[in-house]
Parts: sequence; C-alpha cells; structure tokens
Amino acid sequence: MTGPHIELNRAALAHNVAQIRELLGSDVSLMFAVKSNAYGHGMELIAPEVIAQGADELAVLDIQTGVAVRDVVPEAPLLAWLLEPLDNYAAASTHRLELGISTVEQLTMVAKSAPKTPLVVHLKVDTGLHRNGATANQWPEFFTVAAELERAGVITVRALWSHLADTSIESSLSALSRLQDAATTARDAGLHPEIMHLAASHGALEVPETRLDMVRFGILGYGVSPFDHHTAEDLGFRPVLTLLAPITRITEDTIFLGMGYRQGLLSPLTPGATIRVGHTPLELVAVEADHTVLRGSFSPEHLQEGMMVPLMGANAPGASVEAWAGWTHTIGDEVLVRLHPDIPRNFSDAPIDS
Ligand SMILES: Cc1ncc(COP(=O)(O)O)c(C=O)c1O
Repeated sequence: MTGPHIELNRAALAHNVAQIRELLGSDVSLMFAVKSNAYGHGMELIAPEVIAQGADELAVLDIQTGVAVRDVVPEAPLLAWLLEPLDNYAAASTHRLELGISTVEQLTMVAKSAPKTPLVVHLKVDTGLHRNGATANQWPEFFTVAAELERAGVITVRALWSHLADTSIESSLSALSRLQDAATTARDAGLHPEIMHLAASHGALEVPETRLDMVRFGILGYGVSPFDHHTAEDLGFRPVLTLLAPITRITEDTIFLGMGYRQGLLSPLTPGATIRVGHTPLELVAVEADHTVLRGSFSPEHLQEGMMVPLMGANAPGASVEAWAGWTHTIGDEVLVRLHPDIPRNFSDAPIDS
C-alpha cells in the first residue's frame, strides 16, 4: 500500500507567480521564499519551477539550504539570512549565495572566510520587529565596517533591508521610515546599496509603499493567506498543494487514512473538522501517530483500502490549508512546514479553472 503523497499543481503556482508579477509591476523584483522546504511543498521542486515561471530571486534561511538550492538552481540570485558563527561562510561564497547580514560579527566571519570575489551582502536593519537586524544605535559602526570591507574588495553591499511585523498599516509605514533613516546613515558611511527591500506577502498587499525595489514573497505564492480574514482565493491566488492519504481500513462508520502526526499532520484542537471522502463529508475525530480517523455515515460500496483521499489543500473541498490552520489554532505556514520531507511530492499538470 502506498503512503501519503503531496501533489503540486504547476498551473496554480504559475498563476500565483503571474498574479504577484502583475501586482508588483515591472519595476519591483520578486524574490520567492523557498525556506522551510518551500513551506513544506518541496524545495527541490519549487525552487527551479518558480524561477522558470518568472520569479527573479530566491530566499532560504540558512547557508546549508542555500547550497542545496544552488544544486538545482545554478544561476538565480539566492539569499540566506539566518547565520550562525560556525556556519560555512566559505561555502556561501563558492556557491554564490548572497547573505543577509545583521551584525559586525557576521561581517567579520565573512572577512575571515576570505572570499575570492566579493561576497554579495544585504545589510539588515531592525525597523521595529526586533528579530535580527542591526539596531539604530549599532548602525554607525555596522555601516562603517561594511564600507571598509567593501573598499577592501571583501563584500559588495547590494541591498539594505528589513522585515515587517505586519501588525498594522501604521507600524509598517513607521518601519519604512526607519529603513529610510538607515539608508541615510549608510550613505553617510560611504555605502550605496543598489536596492532596498522590506515587505513579504502581507505588507506587499496591505501597504504598497513598502514594496520598494523587491518583495520577498512566501506564503501567498503558495496560495495560502497571510491574513486572518481573507483566504488566498479571495485575493486571487490558488492553492498549490494537495495532501493525499490512502484509506487503510474501513469499518461500519469509520475510515482510517494512512497519515498521522508522525508524518507531520497537526491535530485539530476543536471539533468541526470535516474531510470529504468522495462527496461524503466525514468528521475528523482523531489524528493518531500514523492514522487519521474519520467517522460518519457513508456507503462503503465505492470505497476500498488503498484509495487516495485528498486530506488537505487544493483538491480537498472544505479542508484548505487555511481551514486546517483554523482547526489547529495556528497559521498556514505552521501547518505546511510540519509536513514531513520524506512524503513523496510531485507536480501535476492538471489545469486550474480561471
Ligand atoms: C525575512 C523574511 N522575509 C520574507 C518572508 C516571507 O514571508 P511570507 O511567507 O509571509 O510572505 C519571511 C517569512 O518568515 C521572512 O522571515
């Protein structure tokens, strides 16, 4: 019997990339985030596909993942920003990664790795989120050291950037204003970054001013909403992923599916979660280690063990990733990134209705 399976709709992904491109216009670049195994979709499939579909650049969290992405995407600019002192900065350089740098210490690590050609860096400043990024009191030293390293041919400062808290329009505009202050301090230190970037999915839609030269799109690109009160479909995006699981046992009123929390499925915390088997809605009563248990009344004639049931996502009516996020009291990102990397994934070329 086959196990759970993830199907990725290529046309939905292309639709989302095209939607983003239309939203951004020709002057704003699209950096597509493929961090966390491309939000559970499978980084090795998604990364080359979005570049082929028109994304300009890619983003991952760490250098090690960036090196793996470089194997499947030889050319596109590729940013990694979650850096540790023991990371292999030399590998970043040989694989032509760009690094998101937040501290003088990280600049020092880059210098120690003695890149043969200048390593391209995006200097990150804190603009209110308090998660990475040089704080305002650190800017003068941070930018001075960066400028010295640029003059010495160790780095090229390509970008100045930050990340939004997305708590309100006001907080995003205030972050934008702080980023502009940082740009002034950087210029005073002798830096002339080519681009600035600030927004991810939420900010890019809610506060167009924050799009600047490039947006780092993640979750919405996969057709899952970053908002509490709008689905991605309402916003014109299409879900890319469908998680399917095989029927492993059928009793009079219960169907067991072969996918559980060991493969990364979160357990609903409130009653009301419903999965359709064929046209019949069944109550999701438990997510066990290797099984999901569905209960209700159904006619078993058309069912048999081994049949695949869409459990989440595009082809699972009423069980979108957003619905799962609601049932499990979390956000879509969390539902997706838990899906075990060993679950087989493949693209389907099924059309989407427009
Ligand atoms: C720095 C940074 N940029 C971009 C993204 C992508 O965000 P989203 O998935 O909300 O589009 C993230 C996600 O966590 C992030 O941390």
